[in-house]
Formats: sequence, C-alpha cells, structure tokens
Amino acid sequence: MADLLTVESLSKNFGGLAALKEVSLAIGEGEIVGLIGPNGAGKTTLFNVITGIYPPSAGRVNYLGKVVARAKRRARWLPFFSVGALASTIAAFVLGERYLFTLGGAGAASLAVALAFTVVGVVLAPKRGVRSDQIASSGLYRTFQSINLFDDMTSLENVEVGGHRMSHAGLADTVFLTPRYRRDEGRVREAALEAIKFVALEGKEEWKAGALPYGLQRRLEIARALVSKPKLLLLDEPAAGLNPTEKNELLELIRQVRDAGITVFLIEHDMKLVMNVCDRVVVLDHGEAIAAGRPEEVQKNPRVVEAYLGTKASKGVA
Ligand SMILES: Nc1ncnc2c1ncn2[C@@H]1O[C@H](COP(=O)(O)OP(=O)(O)OP(=O)(O)O)[C@@H](O)[C@H]1O
Ligand SMILES: [Mg+2]
Repeated sequence: MADLLTVESLSKNFGGLAALKEVSLAIGEGEIVGLIGPNGAGKTTLFNVITGIYPPSAGRVNYLGKVVARAKRRARWLPFFSVGALASTIAAFVLGERYLFTLGGAGAASLAVALAFTVVGVVLAPKRGVRSDQIASSGLYRTFQSINLFDDMTSLENVEVGGHRMSHAGLADTVFLTPRYRRDEGRVREAALEAIKFVALEGKEEWKAGALPYGLQRRLEIARALVSKPKLLLLDEPAAGLNPTEKNELLELIRQVRDAGITVFLIEHDMKLVMNVCDRVVVLDHGEAIAAGRPEEVQKNPRVVEAYLGTKASKGVA
C-alpha cells in the first residue's frame, strides 16, 4: 500500500505555545485513519498545516510524493542579503554615473556585487511549500470543525462553490459567457448533483443551506468537499453535534467514501465511531503523537488511557 501522505517531524509553534511537537505519521492509500486526542491536543492545527493554512515551524508534509509544506529555512539571513543587494545596487548607480564611463571598473564591480547578493538571497530564500489552493487542486480536501456553509445559498450552489476548482474557465470566459464557460458550468453542476446524491441529500438541492437541519448541513459540507473528487479527504469532527442515528448514518457514509476510492483522515471525539470505522488511529496529546496503531491496540495503550483520564472522552477509551 503506497503512502499518500507522510508527515515528518512536524512542529508548529504559536508564539511560546508548541501546538505540534515533532509529529510523524503516514497515511496509506485506501485507509480510514482516525486522529484523536483531548481538546487542545493539536488535531485541527495538524490539519491546518497539512492543508497549507499555516506554515510549519519545523518538519515537512509530503503528499503524493511531493513536499506540500515545509518550514521556512534560514529566513534569518534573508534581510541581510536583501539589504546588501539594495545597498550595492544604489552604490552601483552612484559610482556608475560618476565613474563607470571614466574609470570603468568601479561601477561594474558594484553591479556584480549586487547581482551576487541577489543570487545568494534568492538561493537562501525560505522555501514556502505549496499554497492551500494548489494543495486542494491536487486532490486533498477538508471540512472544518465548525460549519462553514453559505446559509443564504441553496445546497446545490454551496456544493458548486466547492466544484469551481475543477473549472478551467478564466475571467474572460466568465465575462463573455464563452462555450468553455458553459461547458465547465455544466460539468460542475453535474458533479455537484452527483455529490449531493452521494451524501443522500437528493431532493434538498434547492433548499437554502441555512434552512437544513444541522445533521444535513454536516452532510452538505462533506458533499462540497467530495465534489472535486478528492484522493484524500480530511474530516474535522464531522460527527460533532449529531444524534446517535445521524452518527450511524455518518459512519456508513464514511465507509462509502472509502469504498469510492477516497482515503479518509478523520478527527473525531466519539470513540465508538472511531473504533467502528477506522483501520488505524493516531493519538495526539499536548502536540505529541503518543500512540498509533489499530484501534483496539491504541485503546489499551497506557499512555492513551492516561492522556484521556479526567476528560469526557475517557469514558470511551479507558
Ligand atoms: N491560530 C492560533 N493562534 C494561537 N494559538 C492557536 C492557534 N490555533 C490553535 N492554537 C492553540 O494550539 C493548541 C491546539 O489547538 P487545536 O485547535 O489544534 O486543538 P484540537 O486538538 O483541534 O482541539 P479541539 O478538540 O478542542 O478541537 C491550543 O492550545 C490552541 O489554543
Ligand atoms: Mg479541533
């Protein structure tokens, strides 16, 4: 089984707070992997770094064999080289104007120094990784912990918003309603209808998203992430606030998503759901990955039990 996503020694600091500490993990194609841990353990932060919302403080993330996030390196040196390049360029102009044509060498030498500073500055420039929209275009999609829909738009329109990344139409196509625009709109509409059907919201296409019951809004969010046919889907607490029946339906939906060939990385507090649906589980505590393995092994791990003691989730784990 090939690894779709690997996280290598990933750390993220917010000022003095270490939200992630050297977290390493791998997700294989076709797996459903759970990410659990007490409140504030760093789960959402991990998703935010993987999807390019925050740059990591150290370490990197590889997706489909490419680095999509890495810490900015040697950034401390960059201002020195930028200032050096600027100063040398100014010197080159001043000297060049006065002496270049008479003395020849001085202005040219200064220009050469400026060029050298610029080259070194560019080489040492921090590697920023890939922008979050580029990560999404390569088939990695997510949902958010809190519902993030456009309440006044219909269900269909909300899902179409997610599908517009598939569109190749540019600004001119959109303004002049070119055949390419119409073709793309048709494709997006078709994919949106298919995604709505997949999450069993058929018949609710024209409902305003804000008017849908809470449980259906959660499903609509999944449809919006599915519309672009992701390879990897990150779900941040999709079962939060659902009743037991809705949770069971969600569990079934997650299995269907996997059966459709989509790998799932799932943050979840409901241990029953995690144990039922996940092939593997990774446990975060205070930013550290303290355990990883099959759900039944992880459940017995003393460090995991200890991490959960005193929290509401301990009922499910201990
Ligand atoms: N943008 C930010 N700026 C500063 N601190 C942050 C930021 N985002 C997260 N944190 C802090 O990082 C830590 C981890 O937060 P995170 O949201 O990742 O936890 P979590 O495991 O998702 O928790 P929960 O189960 O409550 O959703 C917390 O202490 C949080 O306050
Ligand atoms: Mg969270």
